[in-house]
Amino acid sequence: MYKTLVTLPRATAIAGSNIAFVKYWGNLDDTLNVPMNGSISMTLDAAHTITTVEFHPDLPADELTINGQPADWAAVKRASAHLDRIRDLARKYWSARIISTNSFPTGAGIASSASGFAALTLAATKVLGLNLSKSELSRIARLGSGSASRSIDGGFVEWQPGGRHEDSHATPLAPANHWDLVDIIAIISTEHKKVGSSMGHSLAHTSPFYQARLGTVQVMLQSVRRAIKEKNFTAFGKLIEEEAISLHVSAMSSRPSVLYWQPGTVALMQALRRWRDDGGPVGYFTMDAGPNVHVIAQRKHAAALQEKILNVQGVQDTLFCGIGSAARIIDSDLHPFGYGDSHVASLGKDTQNRLPTR
Ligand code: PMV
Repeated sequence: MYKTLVTLPRATAIAGSNIAFVKYWGNLDDTLNVPMNGSISMTLDAAHTITTVEFHPDLPADELTINGQPADWAAVKRASAHLDRIRDLARKYWSARIISTNSFPTGAGIASSASGFAALTLAATKVLGLNLSKSELSRIARLGSGSASRSIDGGFVEWQPGGRHEDSHATPLAPANHWDLVDIIAIISTEHKKVGSSMGHSLAHTSPFYQARLGTVQVMLQSVRRAIKEKNFTAFGKLIEEEAISLHVSAMSSRPSVLYWQPGTVALMQALRRWRDDGGPVGYFTMDAGPNVHVIAQRKHAAALQEKILNVQGVQDTLFCGIGSAARIIDSDLHPFGYGDSHVASLGKDTQNRLPTR
């Protein structure tokens, strides 16, 4: 009788979600997520995902746990398809156990695909021994979810549309400490949205206003880039509101129409403009493919704004985020649902590599 300890190949990564100021909407290639236009975002610190990927030689299929619960079939399928791309690159074909934890509650209506696919990409490529550059990681993350390409980097990030897979990846625009902005996410609805962003991207082309949006986006990118560089908050705020409205007009006017806003969304958009007009705390809105409102502000106004936002009818809660840093590998023992027991006991031939029951 002998006893050995087998350490399973595993890595854990953390990645922040991001909020886009110039938004990705519509693809040149829907399967590869090559976008029609470039986009600019800010990586968030408090809205992040921690993902552990552990490869098992004897696991029959990939497993995925999100926030301590087994994920639904569609989520497992999507994560597994993403791992296949990475396994193909590494030419290693073991199944994996993926443990993913979001810093925000599941069902809070906050999209986790950007942080989720960025963390999954980093952890899986690391554990399979692929030593990839940031742009390579960004390109692979993009295949899981377009906006995940921007969550590989921290601070302010620009995704170069590229026009084809090889050239479509994000690059840093300014570091996290460049400008002390905050994102107060106002939770308007926690319901699962009926039309996901993938469907939204594929419908974008059916809107008569979509071509007009594409016609203005280059100037928008230049202007937002400049406002960030010069830290011109008023110019920046006006631009991001205009840009969010442009995206939502395209969505609302696509066939079929996609209407993400709820009464609370509009109430908060109106309130922010009223407070600005009345000399109150200054915040500007932007919304992704959902009803929640991201209020972008300078930190000096954050506390006053957050209090006022919570009093707007239809706002259920807020999540306060600063600017996050780049996705990175962390110690697996730091995973909240993690793997303190980082060894599998192997007690001989017939029990070799048996999984511990958890
Ligand atoms: O990455 P996706 O497919 O979830 O698309 C994100 C789309 C928007 O959030 C609306 C805009 C963006 O650039 O993040």
